[in-house]
Amino acid sequence: MSARHFLSLMDCTPQELNSLVRRGIELKDLRERGVLFEPLKNRVLGMIFEKASTRTRLSFEAGMIQLGGQAIFLSPRDTQLGRGEPISDSAIVMSRMLDAVMIRTFAHSTLTEFAANSSVPVINGLSDDLHPCQLMADMQTFHEHRGSIAGKTVAWIGDGNNMCNTYIEAAIQFDFQLKVACPEGYEPNAELMARAGDRVQILRDPREAAAGAHLISTDVWASMGQEDEAAARLATFRPYQVDRALLDCAAANVLFMHCLPAHRGEEISHDLLDDPRSVAWDQAENRLHVQKALLEFLVEPAYHHA
Ligand code: CP
Ligand code: NVA
Repeated sequence: MSARHFLSLMDCTPQELNSLVRRGIELKDLRERGVLFEPLKNRVLGMIFEKASTRTRLSFEAGMIQLGGQAIFLSPRDTQLGRGEPISDSAIVMSRMLDAVMIRTFAHSTLTEFAANSSVPVINGLSDDLHPCQLMADMQTFHEHRGSIAGKTVAWIGDGNNMCNTYIEAAIQFDFQLKVACPEGYEPNAELMARAGDRVQILRDPREAAAGAHLISTDVWASMGQEDEAAARLATFRPYQVDRALLDCAAANVLFMHCLPAHRGEEISHDLLDDPRSVAWDQAENRLHVQKALLEFLVEPAYHHA
């Protein structure tokens, strides 16, 4: 299987990732200027969603249409995946009909198993471990507002979850320092932390992590699949709410990001998305642009006329 996949930020070189960010900015400009750009005419993206989604589904579906192609939404409930057809068999069959497959799943091994059997590119639309498409949008957003993130300091406040793990990958690939403030027992992936070395620091005090940060990011306290733990997590994470006072501890030009959906009154204060330092809406929009850059990079361009 020779297809190139995007299951993690580590599947690309730092140069490729930076080019994708720049291309996302260019594609955003093309769209704003109303320029038709359809390199993926007649190409089809399959989208398997084992979990709910607003942004990921919309951005991939709209993105494929804008690039001249189409996207097909597939849920396990309505496909044989939900009735036990092996992932490997599904990957072989689906990749014979589609030009790329995006998967949002629980176990990251579902993605790697699918990719190992797919003849077309597979894109991680979120797993329990990683959310690389979101980080690409975050990197584009930072670049648009502040220029290169290389050498800057980022604070992650809250759960050491899939987003936090991907921030660790981003720290390695985009060359920034990451300070993670999380409660004991909610640390990010140990292997990734070891790989990042002294780029990543684990702290307990959110104010210590926020000090001097150029970007502060957080996420829900209970991710999809952790609904049963939500009440217990609420109590544990209470000291980790990001509010305006926490942003005041950071660099004067700090930006705030949240991948959304947000829970006001939990991981963020009620007013935080209205603070001028928050760029969460740009961040959400940029899912569209940077994923179009990713699709352009991964998917074979338009067919030739017979
Ligand atoms: N941030 C994000 O992935 O949003 P959705 O769950 O709505 O796709
Ligand atoms: N950590 C969250 C991100 C949602 C986009 C989750 O996995 O549910």
